Amino acid sequence: MKTLSPTSIILGASRLGERPGADELADALIRSRLGYVDTSNNYAGGHSEQALGDAIRRAGGLPGHTRIYSKADSDPDTGVFDGDRVKRSLDESLTRLGLDSLPLYQLHDPYGLTVAEAMGPGGAVPALIDLRDQGVIGAIGIASGTLSQVQEYVDTGAFDVVLSHNRYTLVTRTAEPVFQAARAQGMTVLNAAPFGGGTLANGDTSFGYRTMPADFAAHVSRVRSLAVDHGVDLAAAALHFSMRSPLVDATVVGITSTARLEALGPLIDARIPDDFFDAVESLGTPPPGVDD
Ligand SMILES: NC(=O)c1ccc[n+]([C@@H]2O[C@H](COP(=O)([O-])OP(=O)(O)OC[C@H]3O[C@@H](n4cnc5c(N)ncnc54)[C@H](OP(=O)(O)O)[C@@H]3O)[C@@H](O)[C@H]2O)c1
Repeated sequence: MKTLSPTSIILGASRLGERPGADELADALIRSRLGYVDTSNNYAGGHSEQALGDAIRRAGGLPGHTRIYSKADSDPDTGVFDGDRVKRSLDESLTRLGLDSLPLYQLHDPYGLTVAEAMGPGGAVPALIDLRDQGVIGAIGIASGTLSQVQEYVDTGAFDVVLSHNRYTLVTRTAEPVFQAARAQGMTVLNAAPFGGGTLANGDTSFGYRTMPADFAAHVSRVRSLAVDHGVDLAAAALHFSMRSPLVDATVVGITSTARLEALGPLIDARIPDDFFDAVESLGTPPPGVDD
C-alpha cells in the first residue's frame, strides 16, 4: 500500500471549462496554496484537464507546492473501460496536462462494469497497477461507483486511495463504513462534495445532483435551522464536518470561479463550536438521501 500525503483540502475542478473564465480559474487553482487540484479525464469533456494543462504551460511548469490528481474514464464513444482504455485515458490526461507522471490516478465512476471484470485479466485495475509499477502513477484509487461497488473495491486491497462523494457530509453518513474499512487497511481517504454538490453552501434544492426525498429534505432543513440557532455559517460547518473527521485525509471541494476560491479561505479558517456538531448528532441517523 502506497501512502499519499495530500493537503487537507483538495480543489475540485469538475466544472472547470464549463463556464466562462476557465483560464483565469485554472491559473488560480494551480497557484493556490489552499490545496492540490482534483480533475478527471472526462470532466467538462476533457476541458478541465486541458485548462489546467494550459495554465501549467503559461506558468512555465507546475508550481512546486501543488499536485494534480486525475482519474481514468471509460471510452466516451463506446463505454469500454478495460485495461487498454485505462492506458489510453492516462495518455490523454498526460498530454492535456503536459506532464510525464501523476501522483494519483483513480478509477472513475466504474458503474458500467462489475468489480470482477475490472479486477480480471486485461481489466482496468491490473492496468492501473501496471502503470503504478512503472512509476507513471504514484498511487491508484477507486473514485466511486455505487456504495457497494466502492466497498468491494476497497475490500480487494488493491488500491491506495478511496474517494467517495456526497455520502459523508453534515447531513449524510452512508460512506462511513467504507471509510472505516479503507482506514483499517491504511488507505488514504478523500471525501468529496462536502456541500452535497452545492446545497449546503449555495442553497441549491438538489442534493448529490438529484432531487431530495421529502424526509431527507426535512432533515436538511432541521440542520439548516440548527446552524441559524447556533449562529454558524452552514457552508463552513459542512466543510468542517469533513475536515475534523478522523476518517478523512482530505476534503475535495468544488470550485467554480475565482470568487468561490477566494471565499474558501475564510470557510477553512472559520471556527465551528463543538456544540453545533453535537446538536446535529442529536438529530439521529440521517434518513436515506439520494444514494445509489
Ligand atoms: N466520482 C468522483 O470522483 C467525484 C464525484 C463528485 C465530486 N468529485 C470531486 O469533488 C469535487 C467537489 O464536488 P462537487 O463540486 O460536486 O460538490 P461540493 O464540493 O459539495 O459543492 C461544490 C459547489 O458548491 C458551490 N460552492 C462552492 N464554494 C461555495 C461558497 N463559498 N459559497 C457558496 N457556494 C459554494 C459551487 O457551486 P456554484 O458556484 O454553482 O454555486 C460548487 O459547484 C468535484 O469538483 C470533483 O473534483 C469527484
